[in-house]
Amino acid sequence: MDMTRRPRRLRTDGVRPLVRETDLAASDLIAPVFVDATTDERVPIETMPGHERVPVSEAVARVEEIRETGVEAVMLFGVPESKDERGSRAWAEDGVVQEAARQITAETDAYVVTDVCLCEYTDHGHCGVLEDDAAEDPTLTVRNDETLELLGDIAVSHARAGADMVAPSGMIDGMVGAIRGALDEDGHTEVPIMSYAAKFESAFYGPFRDAADGAPSFGDRRHYQMDPANAREARREVSLDVEQGADVLMVKPALPYLDIVAQVRERHDHPVAAYNVSGEYAMLHAAAEKGWLDLESVASESLLSIKRAGADLILTYFAEDVADRL
Ligand code: PBG
Repeated sequence: MDMTRRPRRLRTDGVRPLVRETDLAASDLIAPVFVDATTDERVPIETMPGHERVPVSEAVARVEEIRETGVEAVMLFGVPESKDERGSRAWAEDGVVQEAARQITAETDAYVVTDVCLCEYTDHGHCGVLEDDAAEDPTLTVRNDETLELLGDIAVSHARAGADMVAPSGMIDGMVGAIRGALDEDGHTEVPIMSYAAKFESAFYGPFRDAADGAPSFGDRRHYQMDPANAREARREVSLDVEQGADVLMVKPALPYLDIVAQVRERHDHPVAAYNVSGEYAMLHAAAEKGWLDLESVASESLLSIKRAGADLILTYFAEDVADRL
């Protein structure tokens, strides 16, 4: 046996840190925040222990709590006071995300990213304008090109309210180009777009849909989000977003799709983001509650794995907990 090669030599406590290939930092993390126009007080999210929906009046305080852990970036999601067919509260100047973004950027140094989508704002819960008979006919869903205009309006309303970056999540064809055009036309040439470029139709979004009240009232999102079976399609999707001017490329979910994260890292020189989604958070919490897993360890290991696969930034509900321990 050739025992000149002994990898264990590099695993002692002294040398381990010197040969470590990947490090996590608080500056890699973005913490999601749910701002809710239907409540005056903080409401715990049952399926996501430790997270709350906060009223606009608490948004600044919530962001300051996050910043105390060293995490400086937040992603805002909104729960509007009312919903309609077209999701008109999504681009309202006094909408819940717009109000929160205005206050947070005025009163804190946080970096504010906003989710640009319609599903939390439409009464049917889909991510765009519906075809007329969509509720009856499962082959009909969202009207792509009509939705683009609304996404542009949402992004502009967020930028006007002070958002530092916008993140379209609807998987509508052409959304990055449409939003870039709308932002530029309104003078927001410096606002970057982080595209949910490869977003899969995943069952791991379940807890989020409770949190943001964004579950579709009928059907599913198969006609716009991607088939979990497809990696080559993900590469095509990402390339299209690059052509349209995306500044940051996101893969979502993270852990079940680390192969996609690695492939996007390999093919593109853009910053790569990964969204460690609500279901990834909830399942670790549930197992930890049963005493089956050690939460701190599995949370850190998850985020480290996402970085090792090639992500530069990670959106995660573990942001505060993990940053606190770094
Ligand atoms: C859509 C959106 C969703 C998530 C982020 N943006 C829900 C969906 O596509 O159904 C899911 C995030 C998570 O599960 O943590 N606005």
